[in-house]
Amino acid sequence: MKKIGVLTSGGDAPGMNACLKTVVEMSYNYGYECIAFRMGYKGLIENDYYKITKDDVKSIFNLGGSYIYSARSKEFMQDEYRQIAVQNIKKSGIKALIVIGGNGTYLGAKDLSDLGVNIIAIPATIDNDVHSTESSLGFDSAVNNATDMIDNIKQTMQANERISIIECMGRYGGNIALYSAMASQADIVAVPEDPLDLEHIYRFIADQIKHGNNSPTLVVAEKQYDVFKLAKDIERDFNHECRAVILGYMQRGGAPTVKDRMSAIRYGVSAVECIDAGIMNVAIGLKNDKIVTTPIAEAVKMHTNFRQDLYDSFKLLNNPRNKA
Ligand code: F6P
Repeated sequence: MKKIGVLTSGGDAPGMNACLKTVVEMSYNYGYECIAFRMGYKGLIENDYYKITKDDVKSIFNLGGSYIYSARSKEFMQDEYRQIAVQNIKKSGIKALIVIGGNGTYLGAKDLSDLGVNIIAIPATIDNDVHSTESSLGFDSAVNNATDMIDNIKQTMQANERISIIECMGRYGGNIALYSAMASQADIVAVPEDPLDLEHIYRFIADQIKHGNNSPTLVVAEKQYDVFKLAKDIERDFNHECRAVILGYMQRGGAPTVKDRMSAIRYGVSAVECIDAGIMNVAIGLKNDKIVTTPIAEAVKMHTNFRQDLYDSFKLLNNPRNKA
């Protein structure tokens, strides 16, 4: 029987399971057996795979995490291990391998395609930093999770007239911070695409307080500040209580939103359709809400997909000095 392989790799993202279920169902619908490699590229190196059935995936559609596990494999970055992976893929007899993951996963997929493996890549990362799509699986879910949490934090901070600093995930990109700051009506957002020095942040806070906001909310993307130290410094320098919260993995777990579920189905359907039609070594994506394919060599180009237009609107809305 013809076979399709599938794996999830890198940081897990809500929607991975919905996509996996779609891939498995589509594979059998098109007359393929589906095999799943556990733990991403680690499973390729260790030849750790099994036949995955429609029955296995029948209840996973709305679950966060990854049913077949996910990992960042350091070994896979070395050529000798990639060669082992390729040998294992060849022995498994699959026609093509569907990889579901983010940036790092795409780089690995490109290496595999260069080594002669037929690859289809599906974007799944809460960071939304994959060049070949407007929307990666998990981003919308993470933004919704972060927005809910910021809403809650704002309420308690307002009750106590405290300044808050809330750190979002996003790796090297500010997408989650920007979207969730906008959607929760935070006052200031700090993203790596437009680094704010402390002087800037202090000026923004001073402006907010001067204009009557005694509990300004500052949302920051990760890897920029030590938010606990920053909170202490602000509290001391403004003589105003300040608290820091790192949202962390609360953003990454949980059920996928409707948007991510819909994209998961569309990506999974297209991936198997591509394989069946002999279209290989492409990344599936969405552009203007239409499914598109991009050669994997092009899709690996680093890009944060940062929405400068949204950022500019946010700044205009939230700078009290722009107000009459
Ligand atoms: O790529 C998704 C992500 O959650 C990033 O936002 C974050 O920087 C990173 O993964 C954390 O990775 P790990 O869970 O491997 O520490």
